[in-house]
Amino acid sequence: MDVITDISPLRTRLRHESSIAFVPTMGGLHEGHLSLIRVARQHRECVVASIFVNRLQFAPTEDFDRYPRTLEQDCALLEEQGVHVVFAPEERTLYPAPQEFTVEPSPIANMLEGKYRPGFFRGVATVVLKLFNIVQPQTAVLGKKDYQQLHIVRELVRQFNLPIEIVAGETVRAPDNLALSSRNRYLSNEERAEATRLYQVLSQVKREIEGGNRNFAGLEENAMKTLISHGWNADYVSIRERDTLAPAQPRDGNMVVLGAGRLGKTRLIDNLEIIPKKE
Ligand code: PAJ
Repeated sequence: MDVITDISPLRTRLRHESSIAFVPTMGGLHEGHLSLIRVARQHRECVVASIFVNRLQFAPTEDFDRYPRTLEQDCALLEEQGVHVVFAPEERTLYPAPQEFTVEPSPIANMLEGKYRPGFFRGVATVVLKLFNIVQPQTAVLGKKDYQQLHIVRELVRQFNLPIEIVAGETVRAPDNLALSSRNRYLSNEERAEATRLYQVLSQVKREIEGGNRNFAGLEENAMKTLISHGWNADYVSIRERDTLAPAQPRDGNMVVLGAGRLGKTRLIDNLEIIPKKE
């Protein structure tokens, strides 16, 4: 496995690769990231992963400084999974000067996560476009854990005509169903025990809808109330149409329920796809 920090040697290393699957990450790797690597390996011959904590997608009040940086351990995990190339640039390599051109994402980026993290998806879309231009993969693998991010990257690729196939990886969970996240390590023992509640309320919504309940507003409100009554600073629980992420309509087929909230200082997100019974 080659660990490369600069753009020019990376381009040289990849020049003759014609079947690249790319997995962008911010490091602090866990089994969720590693599952994406395994998906990537099934799609293409050469697997490239990037590790870069992208300042552009963090608000000044967020956890950029304390975000886990575990490069050595991450590289050992990636090597075990058979990754061929790791691109781990320094900040000055990707941003030698302030990034003045940015990608203004579609209006969907102002809802859900975007409402609580203004500028977040501009930062994500901008760095993902840069990474795609540098690595030039045929396939990129992103996790459903960040459902809205996956949607926005798909739209980015479609609307800028990038010749990249986007593949979605399923969310990997802990035994109690908490979605794995680099941020879970911030949780105290007590918070960690409570954290699984987000999955539980989303599953409850999913079960209700799959059983025929179409009172979406009522379901969202109940879920929010449950989180709040257990000490969560809940941001949203929202039932959406899967392909557009527009608010779901009672007749919609493919839906997803997304939720986000803070436990103490740690912000957690999760989502579940809904498969309603045919009427
Ligand atoms: P990061 O949070 O490190 O996540 C990297 C990839 O891993 C994303 O595609 C994310 O959806 C996926 N992932 C995270 N947790 C997962 C889980 N439990 N199961 C399956 N996949 C999971 O997302 C980012 O980094 C950044 O925004 C990035 C796209 C790299 C741009 O900076």
